[in-house]
Amino acid sequence: MCGIVGYIGQQDCKEILLRGLEKLEYRGYDSAGIAVLNGEGTYVFKEKGRIAELREGVDANVSASIGIGHTRWATHGAPSKENAHPHQSASKRFTLVHNGVIENYLQVKREYLQNVELKSETDTEVIVQTIEQFVNKGLSVEEAFRQTLSLLKGSYAIALLDENNRDVIYVAKNKSPLLVGLGGDFNVVASDAMAMLQVTNQFVELMDKEIVIVTRDQVTIKNLNGDVIERAPYTAELDASDIEKGTYPHYMLKEIDEQPLVIRKIIQKYQDEHDQLKIDQEIVQAVHEADRIYIIACGTSYHAGLVGKQLIEKWAKVPTEVHVASEFSYNMPLLSNNPLFIFISQSGETADSRAVLVQVKELGHKALTITNVPGSTLSREADYTLLLHAGPEIAVASTKAYTAQIAVLAILAAVAAETKGIKLDFNLLQELAIISNAMETLCGQKDEMEQIARDYLLTARNCFFIGRAVDYYVCLEGALKLKEISYIQAEGFAGGELKHGTIALIENGTPVIALSTQEHVNLSIRGNVKEVVARGAYPCVISMKGLEEDDDRFILPKVHEDLTPLVAVIPMQLIAYYAALHRGCDVDKPRNLAKSVTVE
Ligand code: F6R
Repeated sequence: MCGIVGYIGQQDCKEILLRGLEKLEYRGYDSAGIAVLNGEGTYVFKEKGRIAELREGVDANVSASIGIGHTRWATHGAPSKENAHPHQSASKRFTLVHNGVIENYLQVKREYLQNVELKSETDTEVIVQTIEQFVNKGLSVEEAFRQTLSLLKGSYAIALLDENNRDVIYVAKNKSPLLVGLGGDFNVVASDAMAMLQVTNQFVELMDKEIVIVTRDQVTIKNLNGDVIERAPYTAELDASDIEKGTYPHYMLKEIDEQPLVIRKIIQKYQDEHDQLKIDQEIVQAVHEADRIYIIACGTSYHAGLVGKQLIEKWAKVPTEVHVASEFSYNMPLLSNNPLFIFISQSGETADSRAVLVQVKELGHKALTITNVPGSTLSREADYTLLLHAGPEIAVASTKAYTAQIAVLAILAAVAAETKGIKLDFNLLQELAIISNAMETLCGQKDEMEQIARDYLLTARNCFFIGRAVDYYVCLEGALKLKEISYIQAEGFAGGELKHGTIALIENGTPVIALSTQEHVNLSIRGNVKEVVARGAYPCVISMKGLEEDDDRFILPKVHEDLTPLVAVIPMQLIAYYAALHRGCDVDKPRNLAKSVTVE
């Protein structure tokens, strides 16, 4: 949520900043801006809207070798040019970009900025104005920066320019992601390595409450007391091509198509030299020692968690609960004596999940993070990590991370079962190989999904997804995909629950997508389809081979009954994609949303 970049070096930096922001646009796209500094002063360019609009407004004649940039997902203050970053201090000496939320900004404003007229409604402006107040009182810029940071409650990744010093960018981080990238005669700053792969693959991780003095040839990390911290850089194992769309019209379509490959990569990464599934011994041990597992996640990752719960309970026989992260602290269940927490998060940065992680670590419990991003906050702060190996997921609507999460949870459940002496009557590696082939078949059937989207959803106001047992969980995900990118009111329901209220919403022509992949509930869900048809619904039944009936609209290839979500979700993703596309929506950047939700 919100992305920041910075560059200090020898070259004109406008293009590097703009290209960096384009790579971070998935983090927010309400408004954007850059500030560059040269001998004539600080130039700030900002616009409401996308980076493309900002680009048009940047004066090509201004040249500068130091600058910062920001792409925004609005929290405090509506999306507007005034609220767009960078923000400047009253004298315009200081210019700052910020990702995060300052919870006590009103209090800071009251105490330190009584005589300063703020130009925006943002919490961010308070930071830059306060820095200037401290400098006016005689503090050095670094001291003023540090002093201001010590007042702030909340999350921040910050880059600050001082017009009086063209040789430094001041940087700080707390709870929001931030990296410093190293070059030969330049250094960069970015919320995500992706943004600066264009110029370097050497990055230094920053920890919370650190500040960094970034010059052209040096990066000095300090803690809030001013002590210098040494930290070696790492090589970002990202290929620039991983983050390009290539010939695809949208990242979402590319990422849907990548799913078979991701499953193969997971098989490869979680296999030992004897072709057996493997998970770190200490993680398996933690599962064995746990008397109950608590899965914590948000959105799509929560839906993957629901499927994971079934696998862990059925295969490894460990009682498991799944909780929406944002509700957990208010509705915390009575915890068991020896719980293990599993955090599922594509980005590894989701603030709601992190808040729970902090809480359970304070209680002294063990935590495992399942994430796509090595080195992410949730990964660093948990005791253990399992990686998804799905490659960067850039479309806001999550697709390949969902299937990767289920696959990794399945491997964890299977390994935990086998090491406990519970013999599974199938070979998961083989089943996952079958699934990756089935996924490939489904990705080759796009025309059929596109036709379903055209037939059912071009003008639909709403749409219901119904399923029973594990199909219900896939329906929740199908509905989320459809609503977030096509803006059709879509809801997933347990088939049996319909008659307890929701069926009142069925009218003539209401699309109802029903999923049937489970033999034990096949007849029941078909009964629910008849109930809605009797009330005028327009049914679209998606069933698994072996359970199909004549009028079914689409038949899924057969896979192991416990793992059907891995294939059943693909038609749902594609139907959502084509519905959004043909309704003229911005598939990769749906309104009001951003990827990586770093505010609670
Ligand atoms: C929906 C979607 C979101 C995320 C949620 C959690 O397509 O992407 O619902 O799943 O914001 O994000 P992570 O997994 O990064 O914690």
